[in-house]
Amino acid sequence: MFFSRRTDWPLVPNELAGILQNMRAQGQEILDLTESNPTRCGFSYSPSVLSAFNVPENLTYDPASQGAPKARQAVAGYYAAKGLSVNADDIILTSSTSEAYAFLLRLLLNPGEKALVPRPSYPLFSFLLELNDVAYAQYPLVYDGVWRLDQQALQDAVDEKTRAVILVNPNNPTGSYVQKDELDFLNGLCLRHSLSLISDEVFMDYAWGPRAGVTLMGNASVPTFVLGGLSKALGLPQMKMSWLAASGPRDTVAAAMGRLEIIADTFLSVNTPVQNAAGVWLAGAGGIQDHLLRRVKDNGQWLNAHVPAGVKVLSAQGGWYAVLAIEGLADEESFVTGLLKDERVLVHPGYFFDFEASGYVVVSLLPAAEIFCQAAGRLLRYK
Ligand SMILES: Cc1ncc(COP(=O)(O)O)c(C=O)c1O
Repeated sequence: MFFSRRTDWPLVPNELAGILQNMRAQGQEILDLTESNPTRCGFSYSPSVLSAFNVPENLTYDPASQGAPKARQAVAGYYAAKGLSVNADDIILTSSTSEAYAFLLRLLLNPGEKALVPRPSYPLFSFLLELNDVAYAQYPLVYDGVWRLDQQALQDAVDEKTRAVILVNPNNPTGSYVQKDELDFLNGLCLRHSLSLISDEVFMDYAWGPRAGVTLMGNASVPTFVLGGLSKALGLPQMKMSWLAASGPRDTVAAAMGRLEIIADTFLSVNTPVQNAAGVWLAGAGGIQDHLLRRVKDNGQWLNAHVPAGVKVLSAQGGWYAVLAIEGLADEESFVTGLLKDERVLVHPGYFFDFEASGYVVVSLLPAAEIFCQAAGRLLRYK
């Protein structure tokens, strides 16, 4: 065997991906309600996105292991504008949020040790954790009109191998934020078991109303790492710049930053032009965020106004997605493949995000209104 066990994946496309591939090859037009790439959703970006590249500094390579100081200060300034204080020295720039996760897993866990991840959530976790040789267990988020952390189940999932709890705040796809009482519980749990917190806050700017929840930025009781990035904050996934910001007991943060600096220095992965542009871009973050937020709120309202009996849009406080619970839907796979073949509408089945039970589909709220309403209309009529 030439290859490692960690890459022993079944390399065959699933049925849905196969059907999609065939339909696209035949030139059929698909209405894509999984589209969450903002650069394909008809937004107009400020000319400064490109003009910020036109600076002579881009012709000099001046590597900095944590990321260029000016770019880290720009990230600190972006939080300061929201009233959140973070020291630029406690920030590491990475080329993606996935890379930030990888750095943190390397920092915090030995091979075989365990991180706890939410369920339902972001489908990339199994890959991210397995590729870094760490184990994971899922803790449930439960829905009873709002999504809540199942505190007992989370506590029960902690064992002697557990080193970190990962939060997605707000969570993808449930759009639920960590609440103050949940953070108090998490801090207590982590203190008792010497665990660190990793909070993926890439969607934090997209709250649909006031008082959606709390950020972990600046959380002081236990070692805490908040992740963010340009892909969601500015709708610029192609620019490939993300960050992690550390907080917690001062001596632990200092030790963590020393180690993270060496991890980051091993890769030096963020390119110079993007770091030079980050200050201009982040200072104007409000512009594109207003457009993105308007879009997701309008599409969400349309959806809520049009759901027929037997379908529920689960309540959420933010993010770019909506979860629909469809009464009597036992077989998500045949529903989504049928919808694709019969109506040419693509949605995510709930199992993609590891929902506890079947009966869910997930749609992106980012597509332009004319596409969204047409596609969602077909979805809601489909039986
Ligand atoms: C919860 C969550 N974290 C991270 C990412 C990816 O961010 P990046 O493009 O910075 O790697 C996504 C992308 O959809 C996401 O949903």
